Amino acid sequence: MAEKLRVEGVSKSFPSRGGTLSVLEHIDLSVADGEIVVIVGHSGCGKSTLLKNIAGLERPTSGSITLDGTPITAPGPDRTMIFQEHRLLPWMTIIDNVAFGLQGLPKAERLETARHYLDLVGLSEFERAYPAQLSGGMSQRAAIARALATKPEVLLLDEPFGALDVLTKMDLQDEILNVRECEATTMVMVTHDIDEAVYLADRIVVMSNRPGKIEEIVPVELGRPRERGSADFAWYTKRILNHFLKPREKKFDYVI
Ligand SMILES: Nc1ncnc2c1ncn2[C@@H]1O[C@H](COP(=O)(O)OP(=O)(O)O)[C@@H](O)[C@H]1O
Ligand SMILES: [Mg+2]
Repeated sequence: MAEKLRVEGVSKSFPSRGGTLSVLEHIDLSVADGEIVVIVGHSGCGKSTLLKNIAGLERPTSGSITLDGTPITAPGPDRTMIFQEHRLLPWMTIIDNVAFGLQGLPKAERLETARHYLDLVGLSEFERAYPAQLSGGMSQRAAIARALATKPEVLLLDEPFGALDVLTKMDLQDEILNVRECEATTMVMVTHDIDEAVYLADRIVVMSNRPGKIEEIVPVELGRPRERGSADFAWYTKRILNHFLKPREKKFDYVI
């Protein structure tokens, strides 16, 4: 498949107490068009920083990031980020929230687009509701609809389901796969949930502790829909988990 996103030799450091804090070190990652890449790693290893650099919200200290071969130097409509909190505007209805990013288009077209994406995420009946009237899972669906309405080429998801209960989370994971099916959107997602990574990812990127480097990239060669209870699924979760266990706990056997 064609390459969509390329992260090449990206390092990032921040000034810190007179010195510098190295957060990312020489990250190389190529993401194919329509691929779902999921990043896992310890808290503080630089996952959000990497997404922010791809989003153009921050600039790498060295290295480059390109989208379809064009360097990313600022935020743009071709990339949208989804966060753990939905960040909907509380004084607007759900449909107005979703249509909000479509300023400049005629009102009828904005509403039609917003309805299309609310329908895609199963929220058609709630377009007149306000964010406070929705559950956490529904709000996150609305946030996904809002992100998709601007038709981004790359969706950047930073622990989007981290605050949801496990059953809601499973529904939303299927929603993500449905979005990929319908819209062919390329996705880079950060999670601390290894099951989620194995369920969703075409490839899983395992990052080391800060300064974050790529320890391993694991292609998940399981068909879809994936069976969370299957032995093959468990093989992948163990394989990823092994990166995070202390030596004495590394008792899982697997064959590469
Ligand atoms: N703008 C910033 N200025 C200074 N330090 C930062 C900034 N953003 C992130 N950091 C630091 O970089 C490290 C990695 O942060 P982050 O990317 O949020 O980690 P993760 O998402 O993997 O938990 C943390 O130590 C954090 O404090
Ligand atoms: Mg983070």
